Amino acid sequence: MKLISLRQLLDHAADSGYGVPAFNISNMEQGIAIMNSAKKCDSPVILQASLNVRNRYAGDQMIVAIVNALAKMYPNNPICLHQDHGHTESACVSAVSSGFTSAMMDGSLMSDGKTPSSYSYNVDITSRVSQIAHWTGASIEGELGVLGSLESGEASDEDGSGAVGKLDKEQLLTDPDEAADFVKKTKVDALAIACGTSHGANKFTREPDDNILSINQIKAIHERLPDTHLVMHGSSSVPQSLQEMINEYGGDMPQTWGVPVSEIERGIKYGVRKVNIDTDCRMAMSGAMRRFAKLNPKVFDPREFILASMKELEKLVSDRFERFGTAGNAKKIHPISLAEMADRYADGAFEPRVKAA
Ligand code: G3H
Ligand code: 13P
Ligand code: ZN
Repeated sequence: MKLISLRQLLDHAADSGYGVPAFNISNMEQGIAIMNSAKKCDSPVILQASLNVRNRYAGDQMIVAIVNALAKMYPNNPICLHQDHGHTESACVSAVSSGFTSAMMDGSLMSDGKTPSSYSYNVDITSRVSQIAHWTGASIEGELGVLGSLESGEASDEDGSGAVGKLDKEQLLTDPDEAADFVKKTKVDALAIACGTSHGANKFTREPDDNILSINQIKAIHERLPDTHLVMHGSSSVPQSLQEMINEYGGDMPQTWGVPVSEIERGIKYGVRKVNIDTDCRMAMSGAMRRFAKLNPKVFDPREFILASMKELEKLVSDRFERFGTAGNAKKIHPISLAEMADRYADGAFEPRVKAA
């Protein structure tokens, strides 16, 4: 099966009322584990690669080859290959020209990926990139607002990706009216919003309530922009069971809280269509490797460690496909080519999904 664009996939999710987890991958094994779960659950899939994966770990050729091989191995599961957090025109345009079907132009931060930008800078760079991507039929996700903690007011670059320093409440919570203006001007296909989540394991120091994880802000944005596909970054749940597994088998992970899956389910009711998850996958795989190593001290074949970690990842991924309502939808989607998507953009069929509420 050909790779699918983010826009086509999220349009289907919106029309049917479900959300799609977007899993970060760095290698073949994560890809195979996620696709095994997708096959079992009949789910469409978003696989995303960070700039670190593209530039410092696997490289574009490897990531694009892996995902195209997965598309052949799992012909019944549409796959979107998405560039996560591009901060420059070249990051996004090079992704699309390398074979990605979607890219995130994260203009909420300057090109260093650390300094919050101005609104006009964000509109300018995002609309330019969105126009170029649409000429090829690829999709663009933009971001308005800055990820960070409503508890401490601190930005978060825990996993090396995100702003640095103090943020004010206006930056930490995306404004619905500004969001409407942003989507209209930039013509993005999906909008990442800020609602108190951040990247990495240390999102909250306690079980989050609406003061520190504002699903009500998502509701307000959705009321203003009922047709826009919203994206929730920093959406790992950091399950207590995985924290325990890591610590039981030799890790040292201080107690922390993530985004409860039930809160993501509420977000999906309010227009969240793409749910970004990386940390949970990392925890599942490294926790299972620790457990395997401890319980099997005589084994030295790395494949055994990796297979054990893939099994744990499959459990997590299947759970999210089921809980987000993604399961059962792969067979209902009939991917159209990027060339056809490009024609549709040119015909004006994909005007930004901004409806005056
Ligand atoms: O942006 C979120 C990802 O978790 C980034 O991960 O840059 O370490 O690949 P990475
Ligand atoms: P987590 O760190 O919560 O998994 O978030 C990942 C993410 O938002 C990638 O863009
Ligand atoms: Zn993110």
